[in-house]
Amino acid sequence: MKQVIDFVKANLEKEKQPAHALGFGKYFTDHMFMMDYNEEQGWHEPRILPYQPLTMEPSSMVFHYGQAIFEGLKAYRTPEGKIQLFRPDKNIERLNFSCQRMSIPTLDEALVLDAITQLVTIEKDWVPSEEGTSLYIRPFIIATEPYLGVRPSKRYKFMIILSPVGSYYGGDQLKPVKIHVEENYVRAVKGGVGHVKTSGNYAASLKAQEEAEAQGYDQVLWLDAKENKYVEEVGSMNIFFKINGEVVTPELNGSILGGITRSSCLQLLDYWNFPVSERRISIEEVFEAYYRGELEEAFGAGTAAVISPVGELSWNNQKITLPPSETETIAKRLYDAITNIQLGKEPDPFQWTVEVK
Ligand code: COI
Repeated sequence: MKQVIDFVKANLEKEKQPAHALGFGKYFTDHMFMMDYNEEQGWHEPRILPYQPLTMEPSSMVFHYGQAIFEGLKAYRTPEGKIQLFRPDKNIERLNFSCQRMSIPTLDEALVLDAITQLVTIEKDWVPSEEGTSLYIRPFIIATEPYLGVRPSKRYKFMIILSPVGSYYGGDQLKPVKIHVEENYVRAVKGGVGHVKTSGNYAASLKAQEEAEAQGYDQVLWLDAKENKYVEEVGSMNIFFKINGEVVTPELNGSILGGITRSSCLQLLDYWNFPVSERRISIEEVFEAYYRGELEEAFGAGTAAVISPVGELSWNNQKITLPPSETETIAKRLYDAITNIQLGKEPDPFQWTVEVK
């Protein structure tokens, strides 16, 4: 039976920012979704309420042991004014995958889709229409039991907040980013939680990110933790290379996040019969391809980042620059295809979009 989601309307409506001021994740809409879990009732009391601060005990387990997971997806406004979600089923599936790995009770996937749909419908005026903008949807779960022993919490909160966003890196969506290949720190090991969207992965990445930024880089590219040799991911996006006419991306090996934009790129490339392979690729191979003149492109793919061409890569005291291509790049072709489907400007042969009415 379909669960009823209660609704308490906000008294005040916040002022909306112009598209050029949005950036990423700085502004939040008027309402949020919330649901609680305890052992007696399971997940209960789904509700949409005014966006507001939380009151929590300082002993809540999330503050101490980081039992927390999240997701990121987007709602888009089409030129006709319709609002659509991009592959929400995949994010909800991954949310439950993260729950399982982090010992958090899983959610009813139909209820989560209903919660996202109802919340976005209430906030539909917050979905921006300007080029490169969207409404970012952030579902997340935190452990709320007040207890200091180390074991899975017996209480949780599942929430969804919304944020109108522009480009993740600032400026033009296709502005090339500078990436530093990380050699000292590692992100994830096989058997760990690198393939899970858990908050601690991002906390662990901050130091390397800070050091790379101090040297003028936008992000770090992580290598495998065992041999410091094979390319993994960028942290906020998966990575792709085009080498001698073929697109190559690291295979999902248990320490890389299975990105939904990553899988959309692979599906599109396959649909276009474009040579593509998911395999282990060493950073040495990437640099050697560059020196042979065969590294044609590098780009990242993620929900927040969409498709981000890489303009510069630094590793092992070598810096390589990928000049802007004279011809249309595969990154641009993928960007156009994905955003045109998201925005309803092109047919959606894969049924990726879900209209919010
Ligand atoms: C997303 O692309 O939605 C992500 O989760 C990356 C993020 C940490 C900004």
